[in-house]
Amino acid sequence: MIRVKKALIPAAGLGTRFLPATKSIPKEMLPVVDQPILLYVVEEAVRAGIEDIVLIAGRGKHAIEDFFDRSYEVEDQLLKAGREDLLQRIQRIRDMANIISIRQKEALGLGHAVFCGQPVIGNENFAVLLGDEIMYSEPGEPTVIEQLAKIFIETGLSTVAVMEVAPQDVEKYGIVAAEKTRDGYFRVSEVIEKPTVQSAPSRLALPGRYIFTPQIFDYLRDAKPGKNNEIQLTDAMTALAKNQGLLSTLFQAKRFDAGDKLGYLIANIELALMRPDLGPQLKQYLRGLAREIS
Ligand code: G1P
Repeated sequence: MIRVKKALIPAAGLGTRFLPATKSIPKEMLPVVDQPILLYVVEEAVRAGIEDIVLIAGRGKHAIEDFFDRSYEVEDQLLKAGREDLLQRIQRIRDMANIISIRQKEALGLGHAVFCGQPVIGNENFAVLLGDEIMYSEPGEPTVIEQLAKIFIETGLSTVAVMEVAPQDVEKYGIVAAEKTRDGYFRVSEVIEKPTVQSAPSRLALPGRYIFTPQIFDYLRDAKPGKNNEIQLTDAMTALAKNQGLLSTLFQAKRFDAGDKLGYLIANIELALMRPDLGPQLKQYLRGLAREIS
């Protein structure tokens, strides 16, 4: 059976939108409620049975590495303070997966970041999860990566998640040209990075969840800079679509674009509302605030 055991998470963006908060830590380490955005992403991969996580990090790599490592000091303090609950949560993080971090020395684009993982991924199938998007699936429901893995296992073809976006949002995303198959997913013929709405072949956008066969590296190896002079993952995806084949599927999950300021605030509010320890009080506060500002 084909399996996906490795995931690659690019977390090397400059985080300019969140400066000065991201001056010394990567944006993926910003907290949503009480855990870094990156932990939600790693948890999604782990729920799908991923064992090895390859993090492509740039600035602030140490903050990421330390987060997934053992902290004797913190663990000792929690033990002495009798905080078993928190201690277990901290220990679970360091044991959840094998975390391998690779430094992307230059910010040459998402395609380049993915190619930096090639020495560790080798000749295996792998998932890519963008490190600033949170996909919330209810406990017991399949995560987005599990939804992609199901199609990938059935077909053996690289499979990526898509979502339908409003016309004004088309130029923020990679957009697929695709035809619906009888099985309900889409066969992709081309992927265009941030087209204008007039030139876009559809409104099906990539939210940042992918499963690839290792052939993607063949197209990334020789990739030339594309849109915005960056090495684009989407250009390699077009080559993959034309040669080996590429599928896409509309995913089921609540998506939070935590890499955007408004999306980040919304993620904090909505994920806190779901928490039994915070939800009821926050709801009460928001009701009062809504009355005040309406
Ligand atoms: C990247 C990708 C794009 C994708 C998007 C999802 O763009 O290049 O294809 O749709 O992530 O967030 P970025 O947002 O990094 O400019």
